[in-house]
Amino acid sequence: MSGYKPEILFLKQEDVIAAGLLDMKMILEATEKTFKMIAEGKVINPSKIQLAMPDEENMQSFCMSMPSYIGGDINVAGFKWASESRFNITQPGMPLGVDLTVLSDPLTVYPKAIMDATLITAMRTSAAAGVAAKYIASKNTKVACLVGAGVIGRTMVSAIMESVPSIEKILLCDLNMAKAEGIAKEYEGKYNVVPCGDTEAAAKQANLIVTMTTATKPFLKAEWVKPNATVIQMAPHEIEEEILLKADKKIIDNWSQLSHITGSIIHKTHVAGKLEEEMCTTLPQLAAGLKPGRESEDELCVCATLGVGAVDIAIAHQLYLNALEKGIGQKLMLWDNPLWV
Ligand SMILES: NC(=O)c1ccc[n+]([C@@H]2O[C@H](COP(=O)([O-])OP(=O)(O)OC[C@H]3O[C@@H](n4cnc5c(N)ncnc54)[C@H](O)[C@@H]3O)[C@@H](O)[C@H]2O)c1
Repeated sequence: MSGYKPEILFLKQEDVIAAGLLDMKMILEATEKTFKMIAEGKVINPSKIQLAMPDEENMQSFCMSMPSYIGGDINVAGFKWASESRFNITQPGMPLGVDLTVLSDPLTVYPKAIMDATLITAMRTSAAAGVAAKYIASKNTKVACLVGAGVIGRTMVSAIMESVPSIEKILLCDLNMAKAEGIAKEYEGKYNVVPCGDTEAAAKQANLIVTMTTATKPFLKAEWVKPNATVIQMAPHEIEEEILLKADKKIIDNWSQLSHITGSIIHKTHVAGKLEEEMCTTLPQLAAGLKPGRESEDELCVCATLGVGAVDIAIAHQLYLNALEKGIGQKLMLWDNPLWV
């Protein structure tokens, strides 16, 4: 028998939190480092595969497989099984997104960890916007407008405040004012978050606009956006195409994903012949210093993302190491003795 044990560390959501998940500074650093490693060729990150249910046209829910291998000093393989259900948001206490991550040893391919990734998604999604904002938001941004006071909206407040320290006020908009009020209250005494029911009025005041809603069609109008603003869209298509097309800098996380996943603004503008890869800069290129972010106060900068699995895996791996060190989680064996080898 070899000395390799197929031992899996199972981490439920509470364990993942105890392992340090809610530390936004750490998540921002891990996210930016992963983007840099992608640009340096140390990451294999195939495009996500989406399983739409009951079918693409009438999608009510989806599960997506997001595999990645991260080399360098991290050296882990894994995938996130990322899922969302619109049924869930009609039920009390059920999140839209429900995610799971599996980490494997790249040498033996034995699984090392299985963990809840629901909140990792919230933290890393906001951190991706935070990294984008660090490079493309004006350093003089005083007012930010965040649209969508859900799970991602909550973590977005801290990601944006950490990344753009000049911000004095966040206008947090939602169709459901009670949700915006709830999050504003959670941040009371730490950040100046003002709940707002009028997205148009909030967007018109802001130099930075971040959208993370479940809207099913674009709602952010071009005439609401200042000519030198920064707009970051986290859901597939929330902003009018005109905003993207007239942007001086078009930032994306991953071209191959965004250009083939139907419904995304990048896919739509690409198939309409209005957008090509060469017109965009990626977050990995920004993090590695290969292309510039904002270069003047006059530019309109627009970013669109769908999420990169490598970031989930890098963060999950860090939390796994923290959990091992702190003795958190439950150990499971895949087998005692493999029957057939
Ligand atoms: N880019 C990524 O990596 C990534 C990762 C995860 C989730 N997402 C996307 O982020 C979005 C938000 O996810 P969540 O988990 O926070 O959802 P959620 O259900 O917790 O919150 C969404 C919020 O948007 C609000 N909303 C819907 N339409 C609106 C509108 N027109 N104006 C203002 N508010 C509106 C809802 O009232 C709700 O409070 C989803 O579209 C999800 O697919 C993106």
